Amino acid sequence: MQAVVKVGEGEVRLEQIEVPKPASGQVLVQVFAAAQNPSDWMKLKRTWPERGVIVGHDFSGVIRELGPDVSSEYRKIGQRVAGFLNACVTVKDGGAFAAYCVADATMLVDLPDDMSFESASTIGLAAFTACQVLWQTQKLPTPLAIAQTPFPILVWGGASAVGQYVIQLAKQSGLQVITTASPQNHKLLESLGADAVFDYRDPSVVSKILAFCGGKPLNTSAVDCISIEESVALVAQCMNDDENSHAHIALVLPVEAKVKHIKAEFTYVYTLLGKPTSDKYAYPALPEHYDLGKWSASLLSHLAKQGILSTIPTRIVPNGLADAQYWINYQEEGKVHAEKIVYRITRSS
Ligand SMILES: NC(=O)c1ccc[n+]([C@@H]2O[C@H](COP(=O)([O-])OP(=O)(O)OC[C@H]3O[C@@H](n4cnc5c(N)ncnc54)[C@H](OP(=O)(O)O)[C@@H]3O)[C@@H](O)[C@H]2O)c1
Repeated sequence: MQAVVKVGEGEVRLEQIEVPKPASGQVLVQVFAAAQNPSDWMKLKRTWPERGVIVGHDFSGVIRELGPDVSSEYRKIGQRVAGFLNACVTVKDGGAFAAYCVADATMLVDLPDDMSFESASTIGLAAFTACQVLWQTQKLPTPLAIAQTPFPILVWGGASAVGQYVIQLAKQSGLQVITTASPQNHKLLESLGADAVFDYRDPSVVSKILAFCGGKPLNTSAVDCISIEESVALVAQCMNDDENSHAHIALVLPVEAKVKHIKAEFTYVYTLLGKPTSDKYAYPALPEHYDLGKWSASLLSHLAKQGILSTIPTRIVPNGLADAQYWINYQEEGKVHAEKIVYRITRSS
């Protein structure tokens, strides 16, 4: 099959490789569409592994083969699914920028017939990360057990793919969603359920958020979907940092938050796959994270089936995987805004 593989630091090439075989607990998916993430360029920049690993985390497609102990009652050949992989680390774990990939049968999102593969490919890392930041280290209300009384959550960088899913999942859990984005994305975020959207480049952004919250810093929850020094400093200024603080900031990158009493925690989406991570951030297999991963897959399947999971706007690139290097560099240059770069791999009929 054709796959985009790492051939050097930051460098990829479309090569001919073997179709993978599903191992125990896995299925073989024919990839119809794959979406790109910042993780693609970030992991390619690491010096290890040198070459040969497959690139691409997010896929959608059709199950073509069941692994040895996957029951045909549970998963069906021909089933339409989406998911994510811990790509660009080992050849065995595979990658999504390929004609086929193998994936954990329990970590798949079932797709309704009316969701296109292109849209479904954007669920992947971003939607599972949204579940993780809301429900792994914090026990916030969920769409299945909503807040009795709404309370605010601050979502910094709401136009990011992670942010778009956090906004809708938090809103569907009964929370009041306050978010930040460039002005051209405010309407999109309101359509996803944001109650208030502020421009993060506005020098008065913090005072405007505090004014919206009745002049008091938030003593609840924030998700910093950008997690750079500058964003976390602004988020921290919106939160209560005195000794009675109950405030929590969820981070998607391991940036240092200069806070005294606020709890700031980084989480790593790949731990939801239930295996040790052998890459830059080394975690053992964490069964409780795996349980959350499986629960998230079934929640996202449920929301997709109900027609209430809004996927990320797509930019389907014209030459597919042949131009992967160009689009990976494009994302590294910070040019992706409120949309996903999507590669159509097998044309759906
Ligand atoms: N911890 C994990 O396991 C995990 C998992 C997935 C992703 N991540 C990380 O999470 C981050 C977001 O990923 P993503 O795929 O959601 O990104 P993305 O969709 O590529 O994010 C692009 C958006 O970021 C917004 N943005 C950029 N700088 C900003 C700032 N200073 N303040 C507020 N918004 C800003 C822009 O908003 P505007 O267009 O409105 O300007 C832009 O639309 C990445 O760093 C990624 O590596 C971590």
